[in-house]
Amino acid sequence: MIKLVGLYVLQAFLILGQGLGLAALLTGLWQGHSLASQLTWLLVFAGCYLLRHGSTELGNSWLDKYARMAAQDFRKQLLKKVFNLGPAIVQREGTGNMVTLALDGISEVENYIHLIYSKVISMMIIPVILLIVCFFLDWISGIVMLLVYPLIVLFMIILGYAAKAKADRQYAAFQVLSNHFIDSLRGIDTLKYLGLSKRYSRSIYRSSERFRKSTMSVIKVAMLSNFALDFFTTLAIAVLAVFLGLRLINGHLLLFPALAILILAPEYFLPIRNFASDYHATLNGKNSFHAVLRIINMDLPKRPQVELHPWTTGDELHLENVEFAYPHGESELRDINLTVSGPQKVGIIGMSGAGKTTLINLLSGFLPPKSGKMTIQGQKVDTLNIKSWQKQILYIPQTPYIFADTLRNNIAFYTPGVSEEQLQEAVHVVGLDQLVAELPAGLDTMIGNGHRPLSGGQAQRITLARAFLDASRKVMIFDEPTAHLDIETELELKKRMLPLMDGRLVFFATHRLHWMKQMDYILVLKDGRLVEQGTYQQLLAEQGYFTELMDQTKGRRGNHE
Ligand SMILES: Nc1ncnc2c1ncn2[C@@H]1O[C@H](COP(=O)(O)OP(=O)(O)O)[C@@H](O)[C@H]1O
Ligand SMILES: [Mg+2]
Repeated sequence: MIKLVGLYVLQAFLILGQGLGLAALLTGLWQGHSLASQLTWLLVFAGCYLLRHGSTELGNSWLDKYARMAAQDFRKQLLKKVFNLGPAIVQREGTGNMVTLALDGISEVENYIHLIYSKVISMMIIPVILLIVCFFLDWISGIVMLLVYPLIVLFMIILGYAAKAKADRQYAAFQVLSNHFIDSLRGIDTLKYLGLSKRYSRSIYRSSERFRKSTMSVIKVAMLSNFALDFFTTLAIAVLAVFLGLRLINGHLLLFPALAILILAPEYFLPIRNFASDYHATLNGKNSFHAVLRIINMDLPKRPQVELHPWTTGDELHLENVEFAYPHGESELRDINLTVSGPQKVGIIGMSGAGKTTLINLLSGFLPPKSGKMTIQGQKVDTLNIKSWQKQILYIPQTPYIFADTLRNNIAFYTPGVSEEQLQEAVHVVGLDQLVAELPAGLDTMIGNGHRPLSGGQAQRITLARAFLDASRKVMIFDEPTAHLDIETELELKKRMLPLMDGRLVFFATHRLHWMKQMDYILVLKDGRLVEQGTYQQLLAEQGYFTELMDQTKGRRGNHE
C-alpha cells in the first residue's frame, strides 16, 4: 500500500512533467523558436511519458503479485474454516455455493483487490496534485475544475447505488444457480428414475435465465453510467476549453497556462473515469469478498480444553437432562439421561425421525447440546466437540464416503503406514477378497468418485476394514450402517462387524431390531425422547414401547433371526 501511494505520487509528478513539458514545447514553437532550441522540453515530455507508463506497468505487476498472494491466503483461510466448522456449514450454505465461492469467488476477490487498490488510491492522489498545480497556473480554471469534480462524484454515487442493487440481485441469482446445478448433478439418479430430468432441466434453465437477465441488467447500468460519466467529463473539459479560448483571445491569459490546463484537465478526470468504468466489476468482487469474509469470520464452535485418554475399562460418559434443538425447530431431543461405561455395545433404536442421528451427532460432538450436563472420564464438559474424543472415534454412516483413490488407500485411510500383511488381513476379515480378485489392478485399482463404482455392501466393508486397521480408535459410532442393504448382505456383514466391536465403546443406531440381541445396553428413542433404556432382557420384561416395536416388526415382515 505504501509502495503504491509512493508510486502514484510519483506518477502524478510524471503526468505534470509530461503535460507542462508538452505545453512549454508548443508555446515555444508558437513563439517561433526552432525545434532544436526546444529540445529540452521535448525530452522532458518524452521522458515523463515513458516513465509514467512504465510506472503503471510496475504498479500493475506489484498489484498482480499482491492480489494473487492475498487470494491464495483467503482461499486457505476459507478452506481451513470450512473444515473446522464441519459438515453443518456445508449443509446450511449449500454445496454448490461453497464450491463456487472457493473457486470463482476467490478469483473475483483477487480481481477486486487488484482494481480497488489501484483505482481508489490513484483517484485519491493524482487529481489532488494536478488540481493544486492548475490553481497556480490559472485560479479561475482551478475553481471550475474543483466545482465539477463533486458533481461527477455525486452522479457516480447515484449510478453506483443503482448498479449495486442490481449486482446484489445478480449475485443472489448466481448462488441459486450454482446450488441448483450441483444439487441436480448429485440427484441425477433420482431425477432420471422418476422421469423428472426434463422438468428439472427446465427449472435449471429458468434459474440460468434469471442469472442471465440480472447479469445483462448489471451490464446495462454499467454501460450507461460509463457513457454518462464520459459524457459529463468531456463536457466539462469542453466548457473549460471554451473559457480558456475566450480568455486567450481577450488577452486575459497567456498561451502556456491555457495549454497546460487543457492538457492536464483530461488527466485530472481520468482516475475517476477509470474507477467508474471498473465499478461494476468490483461489485461482483465485493459481494464475493463479503461472502468469503462472512464465512472466515464465523465463530468456531466451542471446544472444551479437555484431554481425554483412549477409552478403556472404568471410563464413564454421563449425560444428564441433555436437550438439543435445531436452529429453527422446537426441541428435537429432550430428557436424555444416560450413563455408559467402559467398552460396551450401546444400541440406539427408534423409528425413522426419532432422533437417532441427532443423538449420534451430539455424542460425536458435531452438534452442541442446548442444555444439560455432560461428564466424560470424570470431567464436566458443555459439548463433546473435544479433539481427543473425536480422534478416537470411528464413524460408520449409512453410506460411507469412498474417496477417489486406490482401494488400498481407501482401506488404509486412518492408518496410512500399515503393512502389507495387515492390509491383506483386513481385506480378508471384512470379506473383500472377492472384490480384490475381480479388480483389474487388485488393491491398486482406483475407486470412488469418477472411478469404478462399488456396491453399498462393498463400500461398507471398506469402512469396516478401516476400523479393523485402526485399533487405537476405541469408540465406534454406527448410524444405520446396514439400512440400505439387503438382508443377506446385512447378516453377512453383521458377522464381520460384531468382532470389531469387542473391546470398544460402540453406539449403534438402527431401526432394525435384530441387532438389539447383541447389544449390551439399549436406548429406545421415540419422538426425540429417550423413552426406555436397559438391557435386552430388561426391556422385554418391561413390556413397553420396545416390545411394541418388536411386535410391529414381527407382524409386518417376520423376525429376521
Ligand atoms: N439439520 C436439521 N435441521 C432441522 N431439523 C432436523 C435436521 N436434521 C434432522 N432434523 C429433524 O430432527 C428429527 C430427528 O431426525 P434424525 O435424528 O435424523 O432421526 P433418525 O436418525 O432417527 O431418523 C426429525 O424430525 C428431523 O426432521
Ligand atoms: Mg438417521
